[in-house]
Amino acid sequence: MALEMTTDTDREMNVSLRPPAAVSAEGETLKMRGRDVKVFYADKQALHGVDLDIRKNQVTALIGPSGCGKSTFLRCLNRMNDTIDICRVEGDILLDNDDIYDPRIDVVELRARVGMVFQKPNPFPKSIFENVAYGARIHGLAQNKAELEEIVARALQRAGLFEEVKDRLDEPGTGLSGGQQQRLCIARAIAVSPEVILMDEPCSALDPIATAKVEELIDELRQNYTIVIVTHSMQQAARVSQRTAFFHLGKLVEEGLTNDIFTNPKDQRTQDYITGRFG
Ligand SMILES: Nc1ncnc2c1ncn2[C@@H]1O[C@H](COP(=O)(O)OP(=O)(O)OP(=O)(O)O)[C@@H](O)[C@H]1O
Ligand SMILES: [Mg+2]
Repeated sequence: MALEMTTDTDREMNVSLRPPAAVSAEGETLKMRGRDVKVFYADKQALHGVDLDIRKNQVTALIGPSGCGKSTFLRCLNRMNDTIDICRVEGDILLDNDDIYDPRIDVVELRARVGMVFQKPNPFPKSIFENVAYGARIHGLAQNKAELEEIVARALQRAGLFEEVKDRLDEPGTGLSGGQQQRLCIARAIAVSPEVILMDEPCSALDPIATAKVEELIDELRQNYTIVIVTHSMQQAARVSQRTAFFHLGKLVEEGLTNDIFTNPKDQRTQDYITGRFG
């Protein structure tokens, strides 16, 4: 059979052949799905078969006592655990319909799709501009200087930092206040147009005013991104998230609407944790 040119109709058919996005029982799109996720650090098991869905354009909070595996699970979502030698991950994690642990997955590209903001603000020892431009440069997102400037300005605006830094973009990022540095790190994550943003206790090093700013920002960002946030603050989980997942001793105990988890948890362990009986 002779080879034929691919037509637009073929392309449309190809698009329609893509499996439809998975949805929850309520019809909400599932952006990420973890299935039977087990994590080992050498021979010590840190996660024992976690099933957790992350819904698109929502904020999911991961809560639970210290050492229960929140950061470990979060790091599975963009394969950050790959950077820990003794760490081994089992189970499936899907981003849309892609298995992110498939050996054909480009991890650098994955981390652009699933960005991360850490507990301690960690700007690079570069200018404010270069901090935000960094990822865009690596991923070749700008054709020229003007486009790069546009990307940086837009990311800083989205991160609610533009007005505060627009006159000193050449100054070092490390010279900003802690809260500004964290918003700079958020701008850096946003600049590569991620689909999901992972945040591991992003406010724990911030004062209440800077915390409030970052929380407001998280709420705005959810219109465009899917967010997973680890927090030790029950108040913060209640303020910023739509859904909450409670972990205990490496297991997911329960997950649901944040309001339900905090007012009417199903499991005694959740009840004990949210009422401050442990953790
Ligand atoms: N790099 C590592 N090497 C060895 N063990 C680790 C490593 N990181 C985490 N663990 C272990 O895995 C378990 C889960 O740790 P993890 O950091 O995910 O907990 P967490 O819920 O984020 O705790 P915290 O609230 O204190 O941040 C703990 O027993 C911890 O000691
Ligand atoms: Mg942690």
